[in-house]
Amino acid sequence: YEKTGSVFQLKDTITIYCSDKSIENAIEVLHERFELLNSIHIERTDNELTADFIFSKSVFKERESYSIVINQSALTVNYEEYNGLLYALQTISQLINKNKQIECAKIYDYPRFSYRGTHLDCSRHFYSIQEIKKFVDELAALKINQFHWHLTDDQGWRIEIKKYPKLTEIGGFRDSTLIGHIRNTPMQFEKKRYGGFYTQEEIKEFVVYCQKRGITVIPEIELPGHARAALAAYPEFGCSGEFNPVASTWGVFNEVFCSKDETINFLKDILDEVMALFPSKTIHVGGDEVPKTSWKSCSKCQAQKSKHGLKDEFELQRFIIEEMEKHLRKNGRNLMGWDEILEGGLAENAQVMSWRGMDGGFEAANSGHFVVMTPGSHCYFDHYQSAHPDEQLSWGGFTPLEKVFAFDPIPEKLAKDKQHFILGAQANLWTEYLPEIQNVEINAFPRMIALAEVLWSKNKRSYSDFLNDLITFELPRLDKNGMPYSKALFDPNCDIVPTTNGINIVSSTSISGQKLMSTPSFTLYPTKKAVVNTVKVESEYMGQKIRNTEFQLTTHLAIGKKITFETPPKAPYTYQQEFGFTNGIVGSKPWKGKQWLGFTNDTIEFTLDLEKKTKFNTIKFQCLNENNSWIYLPKSLEIWTSNDGINFSKSMEMKTIGEWNRISQNTKARYLKFVFIQDKTIPAGKPGEGFSPWTFIDEIIITK
Ligand code: ACM
Ligand code: ZN
Repeated sequence: YEKTGSVFQLKDTITIYCSDKSIENAIEVLHERFELLNSIHIERTDNELTADFIFSKSVFKERESYSIVINQSALTVNYEEYNGLLYALQTISQLINKNKQIECAKIYDYPRFSYRGTHLDCSRHFYSIQEIKKFVDELAALKINQFHWHLTDDQGWRIEIKKYPKLTEIGGFRDSTLIGHIRNTPMQFEKKRYGGFYTQEEIKEFVVYCQKRGITVIPEIELPGHARAALAAYPEFGCSGEFNPVASTWGVFNEVFCSKDETINFLKDILDEVMALFPSKTIHVGGDEVPKTSWKSCSKCQAQKSKHGLKDEFELQRFIIEEMEKHLRKNGRNLMGWDEILEGGLAENAQVMSWRGMDGGFEAANSGHFVVMTPGSHCYFDHYQSAHPDEQLSWGGFTPLEKVFAFDPIPEKLAKDKQHFILGAQANLWTEYLPEIQNVEINAFPRMIALAEVLWSKNKRSYSDFLNDLITFELPRLDKNGMPYSKALFDPNCDIVPTTNGINIVSSTSISGQKLMSTPSFTLYPTKKAVVNTVKVESEYMGQKIRNTEFQLTTHLAIGKKITFETPPKAPYTYQQEFGFTNGIVGSKPWKGKQWLGFTNDTIEFTLDLEKKTKFNTIKFQCLNENNSWIYLPKSLEIWTSNDGINFSKSMEMKTIGEWNRISQNTKARYLKFVFIQDKTIPAGKPGEGFSPWTFIDEIIITK
């Protein structure tokens, strides 16, 4: 983007000359946006001489490219593909200022990645096509070009399949739905039939709608796991043949598709109808989270294993995926699956969507397979965006805007000549806790804007420049379009600054123009007993009140005292680092990412310095047990004490650790060394099996 001086003053109507008929689709897609956001009417003209904008086909080196040259009396666009034409028009709408002017400039633009995606789970909750279209409009404005449509899962089958009508008649509806978080006990249910599905006619129309917006719809048919809805309709395609209802709760279930030939043929039939509906080259077949239990006790599955010389159930999973891959390939399509399809060997030509971190994607790219990155750490937009109590309910996880913006889809260790296998990345919107489309939108925006920039820009700006443009241009645009979004970025921070003897409380915001109304600034001193203090921060932006933020600060003997880590906490769970355990902020539950310190080591070791020999008799601390977020309680703890920081002696020990822990023992010491032991890897059958568990600890409360 190079400014060339002066401006082009536009009129209320803009005429566009383009010999290519597809301009009509772009105008159909964008004329309402131009009217709403720019108060300008756009239309096509056949008269090149009088046209305000001239669009011409050209040849570009990079896919989806476009160029725009704006001078005082004309605007010309060059493009090669439809997406280039469309993106030029999107960009123009974004460049027009309040006075209907565009600054004269030369622009040449193309994306860093060819796959810029958003996923939406329509199984856990169901949204109408109308609702999804409005969401897709906003994705198109961000130049997102892939919509990964998660159409089947344990809780509902959402795509009409003519050959197997019971998939939607029975599989499309569940009898009840879990209320609140799955960790709540006892579980409570809304005992109301819930569901719906998309007819083939609706799907065809939606696919065209997305095409006009430059977006390919990639359907996902989950197999062989996450199959409860399908198996409720056709139990004969499972291993036991027994009926189980469509699931009403979330998680991973043992009922999966059997590997017998009848089921393989059933799945191929389904894929045939799917391919007829979706022109996408890529078809997603799931492949994640497949318990092997039912296969182990199934004679048909064991017979498949022998017949095909498969050594275990992981290879049996590969066999099923390979059958699907060959079938798709025969029909000119590519198979994509979650990174579990690497286990037991990756099917030829399969593409991998890396969700359990980036390692699966790294491995696949290294062996010459195409990859889409969607690691839980940066791309799961069902995670919390802030620790504010008004955050929408979530599984867990903490993925604030800044973290999304910091994402790089290319793993650092991936060799240059393998990097082209990383097609791009995608945000995943799992919807267990997002019952309405508005909940989806609040989780998507503004994080999707940050991810869109990651995927488009080669030279990413600083986060503060991004924030500035976000609040100046993007959020007002969402407001005008009636698109809800998270206000988490406006939540003030409350920073705890240690002083010579205690902690200072200082609140701050990273948004320029945001006014903090009641800035607390005071000192809290150590106390022998635990004492709770409440601090409320109010703020405004552009005359609008931002939701209040409230902090509870618990004082005790160790507040403001420094910790030295032998094993440091892992980003981004490093909240206040060496004062994270002694800042007076006791990690809240449900966990929303902040406040707690998170570790992935199997031995976690750190030392607290009380600055002088101190008498105390109680140590309290909490640990998190949120297995769905791969957070596990540590196994044991030893506490060693010292007065010189060099010679330590073992002073206390805990053989089991709970969520709240308390050790009472009269002690006098200056230094306390904590040594937690955790499993190296998550045991079989638990979420995150085989990966390093997370250990989350917060506030080491020391009292007398
Ligand atoms: C996944 O989140 N199970 C792909
Ligand atoms: Zn079986």
